[in-house]
Amino acid sequence: MAPQLRRAPADLPLLISVPADLPGHISVVPRPGVCHGCAMDDYRQVNRANWDERAPAHANSPDYEVEQSTADPAFLSSVVRFDLPLLGDISGLRGVHLQCHIGTDTISLARLGASMTGLDFSEPALAQARQLAERTGADATFVQADVYDAVSILGAGAFDLVFTGIGALCWLPSVRRWAKEVTALLRPGGRLFIRDGHPMLWALSDVREDGLLVVDNPYFEREEPTVWDEGGTYVRTDAVFTHTITHEWNHGLGETVTSLMNAGMQLTGLAEHDSAPWDALPGQTERTSDGEWRLTDRPWRLPQTFTLQAVKRG
Ligand SMILES: C[S@@+](CC[C@H](N)C(=O)[O-])C[C@H]1O[C@@H](n2cnc3c(N)ncnc32)[C@H](O)[C@@H]1O
Repeated sequence: MAPQLRRAPADLPLLISVPADLPGHISVVPRPGVCHGCAMDDYRQVNRANWDERAPAHANSPDYEVEQSTADPAFLSSVVRFDLPLLGDISGLRGVHLQCHIGTDTISLARLGASMTGLDFSEPALAQARQLAERTGADATFVQADVYDAVSILGAGAFDLVFTGIGALCWLPSVRRWAKEVTALLRPGGRLFIRDGHPMLWALSDVREDGLLVVDNPYFEREEPTVWDEGGTYVRTDAVFTHTITHEWNHGLGETVTSLMNAGMQLTGLAEHDSAPWDALPGQTERTSDGEWRLTDRPWRLPQTFTLQAVKRG
C-alpha cells in the first residue's frame, strides 16, 4: 500500500514471486491466476490473502499500540488523535469504519462516543478487531464484507458518519463505485471523513539513493492495477510472509472529489498534509513530536496525506 512496500513492481507479462527459501531474491516465474488483465474478482482473492496473513502480525506489532489501547480506557490511536481537530464531536453518531483492519481506530472512534460498525473483507483482521472490542468493552461491532457490498449488507442510509482511510482507496479499482457506496450508506446530511495516502505519494518511485523524489507510478486511476511483489509490511514485525503479491490502484484527488460530488455529496473540507502516520519514505523522513513522519529535507515539497470531508446533500 505504501511506497516503502514497493520493492518490485510486477509490471511484467510474467509475474514475479519470491520463493520462501530465497528471501530477498526475485525470480520470474509464471503464476497462474495472478496476472495483469485478470478477472476483477481475482484482485480480491490476491489482496485478501495478503491482508489475512498480515493481520495477526500487525496486532502483535508495537506500532498498532494494541496493548496501550487495552490497558488505558481513554487511549486513542495516533491516527484518530491526529484527526481530532478536524473530526470534532462525534458522540452519539452511528458510524461505519470502512476497511477497519484490526479495529484500533474503530475502537478509538467508539471511545469518542460514536456507536461504531467496522467493515473489512479480511476475517483474520476482524478476529483481532472483535478481540480488542471485547477486551476494551467498546461500542463496536464488526462485519465481514467487500467495500463494494457495504450497502447491501449494512443498509442504505443507516449511518451518520462514514470514516475510512490510511491506506484504503488504493485497494479499490474504481473510486466512482466507492463514492456511490459511501453516499448510499449515509442518511441525508450524514458525513464522510477520510484521511488517506495522497495520490502524489502513491505516484512516487521507491526511495532512491540519490534522494530525488521521482514520479514513476500512475497518479490517475487506470483500469489495470499496478501489481506489486513485496515480502514485508509497513509496521515493525519479525513475521515472515508468503503472500507477497498485491493489486493496487491510484486515484487522483480530482477524481475522488468529483466522484463524491457526482454521487450526491457536498465537499466541506479538503486539507493536504506534509506528513503520514507511517514511514512512507524510509531514510528520507523523520518522526516528529506528533508521531507523524515528514520528509527531513524540505517537507513542504510533498503532500503525504489528505483529509477530505463531505456531507450528503439532503
Ligand atoms: C491499511 S488497512 C486500512 C487502514 C486501517 N485504518 C488501519 O488500521 O491501518 C487496509 C484494509 O483494507 C482492507 N481491504 C482491502 N480491500 C478491501 C475490500 N475490497 N473490501 C473490504 N476491505 C478491504 C484490508 O483487509 C485491510 O484491513
